[in-house]
Amino acid sequence: MENQKKIILTGDRPTGRLHLGHYVGSLKRRVELQNSGEFDDINILIADDQALTDNADNPGKIRDNIINVVLDYLSVGIDPDKSTICVQSALPALHSLTFYYMNLVTTARVSRNPTVKSEIQMRGFADEGLPVGFFCYPISQAADITAFDATVVPVGEDQLPMIEQTREIVEKFNKTYGDTLVLPKAMIPENETQRRLPGVDGKAKMSKSLGNCIYLSDSPKTVKKQVNGKMFTDPQHLRIEDPGHLEGNVVFTYLDALCRDDHFASYLPDYNNLDEMKEHYKRGGLGDGVCKKFLISVLEEELQPIRESREKWASNIGDVYDILADGIRRAREKTDATLLRVQKSMRIDYFDDRKIVSEWEKLLKQPM
Ligand code: TRP
Repeated sequence: MENQKKIILTGDRPTGRLHLGHYVGSLKRRVELQNSGEFDDINILIADDQALTDNADNPGKIRDNIINVVLDYLSVGIDPDKSTICVQSALPALHSLTFYYMNLVTTARVSRNPTVKSEIQMRGFADEGLPVGFFCYPISQAADITAFDATVVPVGEDQLPMIEQTREIVEKFNKTYGDTLVLPKAMIPENETQRRLPGVDGKAKMSKSLGNCIYLSDSPKTVKKQVNGKMFTDPQHLRIEDPGHLEGNVVFTYLDALCRDDHFASYLPDYNNLDEMKEHYKRGGLGDGVCKKFLISVLEEELQPIRESREKWASNIGDVYDILADGIRRAREKTDATLLRVQKSMRIDYFDDRKIVSEWEKLLKQPM
């Protein structure tokens, strides 16, 4: 379908506070896109129902983290006047759409989705049994995206298979029922280290259970402790004079993702930029302590304003509630309109007007 408008939909599962991985992989970019003025409509979905697909026994955790995630959004600069923040469970059209789309996807296709595959392993569903709801979440995500007529979906790299699956559903729907749904595109960070920031211990991903995260709401003391106490560097770099290695060196991975030339002028004027610092490290003579201290300064410059803003919002939870209630109202209008359009295309809009009465009358007059 031709759609001139540029519409963003993105979202997160409210299973915990958001961390630096979310920030460099997605949140920072969302704020830039929001402030670019290039988009007609920006929507951010707190996917609580999706979070329940693997937390069915713990709805309290999801409930508690909705507020944490909204506070994280607001504190990084998501502006409720420019972006609609909404909650999945309050948007019934998403569930209806999911149910229709389920008929357009085979179980074999979902089984091939690499993100779903690895999550099934990680969550032990391979042995315990796989909840149908969890298996279907990529389809529900297609409903999220299409319900807002999104053209662009800014996400982390691990979400690419979801967007691909959504595109297939859109194509199948439009082919089966006529042009109705908008074909979305994924948008992932250009900088490779930003796409997949490892945990402080060098493990592939930040994860609460591994204790290797730096949360946006962590105190300066905790940030310092994570960097100085846990951050992986180069195990062969025993003495300062030894040549250092950058591969797998988390301090430099984080600097790649976050530092700018002006950080050097402020905190480490011995170098003009990261390349010069890296050269010195590789040559030998630059100690890990100095590198970590610099990284902590870079992190603090980024995190301090976020922390302050979070505290302000956290002392006005009534206002945050109103922001959500307003976002939900706006999102409901958009998603209900899409559901109606979908039902019209499928010719199952029986009760939208009384047109079907005459249709049925005519049908019954025909000889059987
Ligand atoms: N699956 C996403 C995640 O785990 C969250 C999500 C739900 C989402 N619905 C979405 C992301 C729609 C983008 C668009 O992070």
